[in-house]
Amino acid sequence: MTTLLIDNIGELTTNDDELATAGRLRDAAVLVEGNRIAWVGPAAQAPAADTRFDAAGQALLPGWVDSHTHMVFAGDRTAEFEARMAGESYAAGGINVTVNATRAASDETLEQNLRRLIAEARAGGTTTIETKTGYGLTVADEVRLARIAGRHADAVTFLGAHLVPAEANPADYLDLVTGPMLTAVAPHVSAVDVFCETGAFDEAATRRVLEAASAAGLATRVHGNQLGHGPGVQLAVEYGALSVDHVGFLTEQDIEALAASWTGPTSLPGTVATVLPACDLSTRMPLAPARNLLDAGARIAIASNCNPGTSYTSSMAFCVATAVLQMGLTIHEAVRAATLGGAWALGMHEEGWLDPRGIAQPAVGVICPGARADLQLLAAPSVTHLAYRPGMPLTRAVWRAGIRVV
Ligand code: NIG
Repeated sequence: MTTLLIDNIGELTTNDDELATAGRLRDAAVLVEGNRIAWVGPAAQAPAADTRFDAAGQALLPGWVDSHTHMVFAGDRTAEFEARMAGESYAAGGINVTVNATRAASDETLEQNLRRLIAEARAGGTTTIETKTGYGLTVADEVRLARIAGRHADAVTFLGAHLVPAEANPADYLDLVTGPMLTAVAPHVSAVDVFCETGAFDEAATRRVLEAASAAGLATRVHGNQLGHGPGVQLAVEYGALSVDHVGFLTEQDIEALAASWTGPTSLPGTVATVLPACDLSTRMPLAPARNLLDAGARIAIASNCNPGTSYTSSMAFCVATAVLQMGLTIHEAVRAATLGGAWALGMHEEGWLDPRGIAQPAVGVICPGARADLQLLAAPSVTHLAYRPGMPLTRAVWRAGIRVV
């Protein structure tokens, strides 16, 4: 296997507190062997390698782990966005507009759109992408979306419980989504998500979806507390969901439950609170209380929520800058949430997770020996510049699984 030494790194963010104080090293080097990190340490002690890349004193960090996107879709909702900017509020019913366009699109169109979005994300430093179904809402269309997603994404989540489609009866649709639709889609996905919200799926329906997913042996996620207070967070914790996403409207009890999910006596996995800053801005909703969540001891992830309705961006750098400038996180907390936090939310922080092709993968979201060589080099001497120079194109180079992709 060939080796690559990335040398002369001014600031290295590892997310590994054992390897580096507060997860960061200065004047460092990283050795990549094949698709993995082989060595990390001071540049002065760097081993020999087949090739060398001079980082020129700039900052190296893990590639972004975008743990929440809806990238398999067709169509455009510019008019809805314009209406929202003119004062209308976001209504989940807009999902049906994308459902109609997606159903009408060919596989080729959907795949082309997805490739374009993933290329945009990679250009901005994203090396791991989760994406969801949820714009098909028939058995055939949800399977179609899951298969297309599985050819390009690192993780695929089944979101048949996104909305009851316009033509369906709610009770019948719940039977379908927890029965034959789940059975048909399950071989193509690793998790099931449900939009628990007034106008989408209520508490009882959310329970049905989470129970059916667990019975099928799939991990769970919840879209919760996006448009108002509700039971989403508590249900996510109760069922051991890997993540609850949006979390804009939280009570003290919700925050305590999320923190306790990591320390409590239960054998269920802890639940990551995934904040989606670009979505909060685009829907003019309150920003999720990321500072309070961290202060209480909860684990958080930052994700783009790239989708045509509420967050049409895949820029994790924008989300990180917003989390710092407007949500009260330090830059290091925000970077960690957008890398290791995403890996926690996807269950990819440890060796051996299965990609959609069933291939076991090394850990992501961290730079340490054995981890997947997913790296981004900034055109800046420290990660602080991501918030200090918001909106600037600071991605200089990106490696995914040891291969340079940008
Ligand atoms: O995460 N909340 C539900 N789903 C998406 C929005 C989808 C849409 O409006 O098309 C979200 O924001």
